[in-house]
Amino acid sequence: DKSKITVIGSINMDLVTVAAEMPEQGETVRGESFETLPGGKGANQAVAAARLGGDVRLIGKVGDDPFGATLKAGLVSQGVYTQAITVAPGVSSGLANIIVSDSDNRIIIIGGANEELDTLYVDKFRRLIGESKYVLLQFEVPKATIEHVLTVCETLGVPVIINPAPAMQLEDKYWEKAAYITPNDHEAKALFAYDGYDLPKFHEKLIITNGSGGATFFKKGERINVPAHRAEVKDTTGAGDTFNGALAVALSEEQSLEEAVAFANRAASLSIQKLGAQSGMPNREAMNQ
Ligand code: RIB
Ligand code: NA
Repeated sequence: DKSKITVIGSINMDLVTVAAEMPEQGETVRGESFETLPGGKGANQAVAAARLGGDVRLIGKVGDDPFGATLKAGLVSQGVYTQAITVAPGVSSGLANIIVSDSDNRIIIIGGANEELDTLYVDKFRRLIGESKYVLLQFEVPKATIEHVLTVCETLGVPVIINPAPAMQLEDKYWEKAAYITPNDHEAKALFAYDGYDLPKFHEKLIITNGSGGATFFKKGERINVPAHRAEVKDTTGAGDTFNGALAVALSEEQSLEEAVAFANRAASLSIQKLGAQSGMPNREAMNQ
């Protein structure tokens, strides 16, 4: 029996430009390639979890432009259940403008249809949500929706993993509703005053990712670091999403927190070896190699 995971979140088309170096202010540089690739934190986490064997449904919206149809078809082909994805009339699909250079990546997102993912829409899928072993949430949808999902899941008794990216502050009463919160180092600093030394607020829920530094969580106030795997870096876009999708799969299979974080670390390190958020995400076979 596969673990049911519901992702509620964004679906974007990533407009990916690769350049050897980032242009400086006012500067023009020649790039190496341009591709449109599926992305969006919600979609990425759904695909990561589906590749690893989860039974995944995504609640989201795409625009009524050609990207919308392509994005939805892509999710179908990845084995994500897409009946809870609808086309928002008169708006464009979510977009991410991404520049990947040898040492860096920079992203600007345009919310588009993701901004139409409102509380009423979420309510249509209460049954789907209620059947889930875990719900995965990110911050590329409206704040009111995030707060609503946390409240609904509390009522339904479904644990939520919040990936607070891009960083946005919530009232404590909402953080308290999360089972796990998975910021990266920067987000942990901004949202929970994490300094890498003192015990941060909500430490019992936090799993902090730090790229090549691995991931950190706290067990009875003790800091535990799970090291990352060495990998050749092509594009780190989507590594955090791979981590979260994999974490949800491992936790829903009732792996221990240590095992789940190690599993998620491994999946993330495999994902960065290919260009694009989703192309490098491993399946179960790749994880065992
Ligand atoms: O986390 C990576 C994702 O962030 C990209 O796919 C892009 O769409 C942005 O939303
Ligand atoms: Na990648």
